[in-house]
Amino acid sequence: MGRPERIFCACTSGLEPVLAAELGRLGLQARATAGGAEAEGEDAAALACLGSRIADAVLLRLWRGGADELPRARRAAAAAAGPLPLVARVDGGRATLSVDAAGAPLFRRGWRARIGAAPLRESLAAGLLLASGWDGERPFLDPMCGSGTIAIEAALAAARRPPGLGRSFALERLPGHDPARLERLRARLAAAIRPVKVPIHASDRNGGALRLARKNAEAAGIADAIAFARADAAGVVPPPGHGLCAVNPPYGVRLDEDASTAWRALAALFPRLAGWDVTVLAPDRGQERLLPGSPIRATPVRNGGIRCRLLVYRP
Ligand SMILES: C[S@@+](CC[C@H](N)C(=O)[O-])C[C@H]1O[C@@H](n2cnc3c(N)ncnc32)[C@H](O)[C@@H]1O
Repeated sequence: MGRPERIFCACTSGLEPVLAAELGRLGLQARATAGGAEAEGEDAAALACLGSRIADAVLLRLWRGGADELPRARRAAAAAAGPLPLVARVDGGRATLSVDAAGAPLFRRGWRARIGAAPLRESLAAGLLLASGWDGERPFLDPMCGSGTIAIEAALAAARRPPGLGRSFALERLPGHDPARLERLRARLAAAIRPVKVPIHASDRNGGALRLARKNAEAAGIADAIAFARADAAGVVPPPGHGLCAVNPPYGVRLDEDASTAWRALAALFPRLAGWDVTVLAPDRGQERLLPGSPIRATPVRNGGIRCRLLVYRP
């Protein structure tokens, strides 16, 4: 039996409840809090590092107490942290000492060949999918796939591939770390990996973006599960069945003509998505007025520094 651990996982603001639910599915007691989720359970830090698609960082809490006790608590916490730097947080009269258990941003999964024009964080793409109830059991479409982030994350989630399986983490340098135990956890999560049985379609009108998306999917080892095509969204024929369409149309930061054309192309696709769930990551600029109907749900999120909303439609 291992010791229960307390962790704080950070995520894109707006996705906190989705992250807490994901940590719950990993077997942890979790609750959403500002900027992320707190969770507790055996091997919580390793489980979150290996298995969370939404968390960007995992802080393993070593001590919590009154802010006035912080100087005294440091010595014992530093011994528990070994070579890892302590992260101190003071909130009113309360303080915590933690270590960054992952040691590097978790959204860097390692498959991105190079940064495309407007790439989406892997963790935000995964959050968007999990917020849309993506379980890998129905068809998927991203008709403006860019560098492929959403389709690749959809395929990896459908395959139940733990995002951290091939990575090493700072927690492996903690004093008392048990490598055999971590290997058992890896093996347990790896046992859930399965073939992708649903069609996952990704298209874009830009050939360069598509080449990058294919390269990324190959690097992620999931290219076989994704059908890439060069197409204008207005003419895309979705795969049969009622699936999930998740899309991140151009932002048009200057509300330029090009972005409006893209949104009109998406609008033209909507009638062919009758019976589908459609999730649109939209900047907070009102471009959704170009889409038919109203969203049934709108969740504010941040994409980098840009205020966005996850808009859910049932065309
Ligand atoms: C914001 S980017 C998508 C970024 C993507 N989520 C990623 O992770 O790289 C928008 C994409 O929409 C594509 N696009 C714009 N208008 C389009 C249209 N009418 N049909 C298909 N793709 C279009 C652009 O080529 C661009 O790759």
